[in-house]
Amino acid sequence: MEEVSILRGYNCRAKGAAPGFKVAVLGASGGIGQPLSLLMKMNPLVSVLHLYDVVNMPGVTADISHMNTGAVVRGFLGQPQLENALTGMDLVIIPAGIPRKPGMTRDDLFNINAGIVRTLCEGIAKCCPNAIVNVISNPVNSTVPIAAEVFKKAGTYDPKRLLGVTTLDVVRANTFVGEVLGLDPRDVNVPVVGGHAGITILPLLSQVNPSCSFTSEEISYLTSRIQNGGTEVVEAKAGAGSATLSMAYAAAKFADACLRGLHGDAGIVECSYVASQVTELPFFASKVRLGRCGVEEILPLGPLNEFERAGLEKAKKELSESIQKGVSFINK
Ligand code: NAD
Ligand code: LMR
Repeated sequence: MEEVSILRGYNCRAKGAAPGFKVAVLGASGGIGQPLSLLMKMNPLVSVLHLYDVVNMPGVTADISHMNTGAVVRGFLGQPQLENALTGMDLVIIPAGIPRKPGMTRDDLFNINAGIVRTLCEGIAKCCPNAIVNVISNPVNSTVPIAAEVFKKAGTYDPKRLLGVTTLDVVRANTFVGEVLGLDPRDVNVPVVGGHAGITILPLLSQVNPSCSFTSEEISYLTSRIQNGGTEVVEAKAGAGSATLSMAYAAAKFADACLRGLHGDAGIVECSYVASQVTELPFFASKVRLGRCGVEEILPLGPLNEFERAGLEKAKKELSESIQKGVSFINK
């Protein structure tokens, strides 16, 4: 749409609106990108929302911009507009990249998505090096190390500001545990640590809040369902992609937590895959406390039972290989 002088407030935040943050969604016309952009447009902490994709951006932008919520929406199409999309952003969310089809692992997405994440992170390093970055593109276990290496090369790396989004694992775990225990899933909190693929997804069922106990049959069912939640959706969609709606919900929840941290709210704790010293691995998902600088504290894993300790050892082996693969992709 052309800017017309009759629109006194066009492209302006409404008078009286609370000051907010500038957020970019990269991959905004995709299966996750569209509902995620809609949810970010509804977030009162967002004042400016930049939507970037290599296809279909004008339509999605026009559509979302008609919502009568506070954020001003602008669309950016294709590589030549990437820098404008990123300049000045406080938070960049990356759901760009191809999704799985039945029979694929997340690692099968590496060849295409690694290059996409690299290009987008090069743009971030140049245009908004202080932004908090939320990486959704799979395989997260490798794409977060890729982003870190790009930022290191550019001299902008701050591990506190780079976060892999594993919230969907927690969302699923809360839902499935709620079903088993007969509880409202909103009242359940399951820490899920490790990474975001198969056996690297480690639900700590011994640390569920509210405190509860499970039979060994329940532990086996829940662990398998949480670790395979993504595959359950991929198979149900039968070739039409992977989780998009639950993922948009999870990503919007995580982005909101990051924004509340930036805003200075206290006591914000979420699980995320970050640079970490919780184990000997350079990256690991665990509970982190979010604040004005991003990750302000990485919380310890807490006591694990024997089943969880065994799961941790298996997860670490696979995670280590995925991290190395990401690092080598940039440094080869
Ligand atoms: P999709 O194919 O529906 O959408 C991806 C979008 O990315 C498309 O609109 C595409 O045009 C865009 N894109 C491709 N290359 C781009 C580039 N260079 N710059 C900007 N945009 C680009 O896929 P989807 O279902 O939205 O999934 C996206 C990614 O998220 C996949 O890799 C998927 O595996 C991953 N995912 C992660 C989680 C998680 O928990 N972290 C959950 C679900 C999906
Ligand atoms: C998920 O957990 O749903 C995502 O990682 C997408 C996938 O490929 O499973």
